[in-house]
Amino acid sequence: MSHADNHAGSGEGSRRDFLYYATAGAGVVATGAAVWPLVNQMNPSADTRALASILVPIDSVEVGTQLTVKWRGKPVFIRRRSAEEIEAARAVKLEELVDANGENKNKPDADASDANRTLDEAGEWLVMMGVCTHLGCVPLGDGAGDFGGWFCPCHGSHYDTAGRIRKGPAPRNLEVPVAAFFDEQTIKLG
Ligand code: FES
Repeated sequence: MSHADNHAGSGEGSRRDFLYYATAGAGVVATGAAVWPLVNQMNPSADTRALASILVPIDSVEVGTQLTVKWRGKPVFIRRRSAEEIEAARAVKLEELVDANGENKNKPDADASDANRTLDEAGEWLVMMGVCTHLGCVPLGDGAGDFGGWFCPCHGSHYDTAGRIRKGPAPRNLEVPVAAFFDEQTIKLG
């Protein structure tokens, strides 16, 4: 009898411990839930961050290479094109393109001529969202694909050296985001 009581007693003790921990756990969750909206209201960085501009140093980017930076939660490709890449992109006629729109936020109505895609007139700097216009995968760069630019392995979209879609299911050229030279060695995104 006393053995059973002891047993039941320890059982209750365990249950109380369990309830205590469960309550403590619930408290933590509730506190967390209550605090987050406040944090979000008091600190608008979530929204501000989404719109924020960033400065990207480009002095270490060598000709024929690219830098990928994360901006607004997405990859941005900053490529310093070689003379060959520029030449190849400029040799393409608009009629050969799937998407004849420049898809450049800095030049909203411009066509997809190579000169309308790059940041500088010489065409060395190409800045684009690293987001495939098909379903949003991140294309592979550094000369990938049939057109020497970027290739999206998800469903096989090929982009040329100006980031224009040339083959595969993607409907549009890679988007050129709002960008400008902040100074000679820095690009400002947004
Ligand atoms: S997401 Fe790039 S080809 Fe489908």
